[in-house]
Amino acid sequence: MNILLLGSGGREHALAWKMAASPLTDKLYCAPGNAGIARDAECVALDLADHSAVVAFCRNTGIDFVVVGPEAPLCAGIVDDLESAGIKAFGPTRDAARLEGSKGFTKDLSRANTIPTAAYQRFRAVAPAKAYLRKRGTPIVVKADGLAAGKGVVVAQDLAEAEAAVDMMFSGGLGEAGGEIVIEDFLDGEEASFFALCDGETAIALTTAQDHKRAYDGDKGPNTGGMGAYSPAPNIDATMSGRVMAEIIMPTLRAMKTMGCPYKGVLYAGLMITREGPKLIEYNARFGDPETQVLMLRLMSDLVPALLASRDGMLKSFDLRWYDDPALTVVMAAKGYPGQYARGTVIEGLDDAAKVEGVEIFHAGTKAVGGKILANGGRVLDVSAIGKTVSEARRRAYEAVSRIRWPEGFYRRDIGWRAVERETK
Ligand SMILES: Nc1ncnc2c1ncn2[C@@H]1O[C@H](COP(=O)(O)OP(=O)(O)O)[C@@H](O)[C@H]1O
Ligand SMILES: [Mg+2]
Repeated sequence: MNILLLGSGGREHALAWKMAASPLTDKLYCAPGNAGIARDAECVALDLADHSAVVAFCRNTGIDFVVVGPEAPLCAGIVDDLESAGIKAFGPTRDAARLEGSKGFTKDLSRANTIPTAAYQRFRAVAPAKAYLRKRGTPIVVKADGLAAGKGVVVAQDLAEAEAAVDMMFSGGLGEAGGEIVIEDFLDGEEASFFALCDGETAIALTTAQDHKRAYDGDKGPNTGGMGAYSPAPNIDATMSGRVMAEIIMPTLRAMKTMGCPYKGVLYAGLMITREGPKLIEYNARFGDPETQVLMLRLMSDLVPALLASRDGMLKSFDLRWYDDPALTVVMAAKGYPGQYARGTVIEGLDDAAKVEGVEIFHAGTKAVGGKILANGGRVLDVSAIGKTVSEARRRAYEAVSRIRWPEGFYRRDIGWRAVERETK
């Protein structure tokens, strides 16, 4: 098959790496890709917002299957546009991607189907939102309804902070995403990311992960797209996984089918594991980044037939095998990220770093110029490793990090601390 992967981050590099290894893949393209992806796929300059350009490329190149990485094109209906042009595509339609594109949609669906989630209300105006805040008390969580690239949620410790979040969102601080908001109760517990592959009717649990969203050690500093991750999540055992499938994932699939928008693709549930059990924080309609980097290291089976079975509605008799060994990834970011940062700085030592046992380096934001690898984004590299234990995977990943010479970059030194603490207890 000729396959086109859409996206340019570390998630897409990990997917490209895994798909390139499939015997089903004749030729792999990636748009727009990056310098690391270029090792596994032919990168093509396409604007993903221009769906007709993507369709035209598929027709001219004889693409058999398109795999969509990021949420923005999914929510903009790229799968609908490809499929109506007769091109098979992996991922949810625009209507199904509302599970990520509208937090209010997912909350309403959860309430209607008794899926465990925090109590909430939706608002379109300041005064009723603030009245609800006062009634509910703190801590409380204020969320923009739409896609906000990780900047749309404020976990407020006091009323002033919560009211400021309401004012910021309704005064256009997050653009259209904040035109409507959700206010929900604070959930106490430990988070985990749960991934299920869906075909509209059936879902198979992939595996789990935990990530680190804050920029600095000790889970301090500003929120980012994710500074590291590891898999599996130590707080999700087989029993808990069964509960998540039965109480959260399957009722969602049934509801989406009943509403006429069956969900196909990866359903990524952000969970809070509370004393009463798993609760849904949010859904994402795609693979996680950087969680995919560790998932792909642990996936033993061929990825391509799994993605095809999701698209074709054939997951019922499908099975995926995973290595038991945990994997961990350390994100290297440009100094200043998630704020202002420089592009174009030189990165050296990558080949030497990649020689560390069990290590795979995925590129998140790089470009190649004149034989040199240059930083080309906020999150730049995902230094990933598999090992017999999280501690071993972590040692390997940091050994590789230490071989990378990039003075303009930074990374957290404590990725995986929760899991390592559990192992060494
Ligand atoms: N109800 C809640 N209780 C406690 N923490 C929450 C709650 N909702 C969100 N959070 C925290 O905020 C983070 C971001 O919220 P989430 O709904 O996942 O939005 P997004 O990923 O789109 O920014 C979560 O990972 C979690 O740490
Ligand atoms: Mg989230």
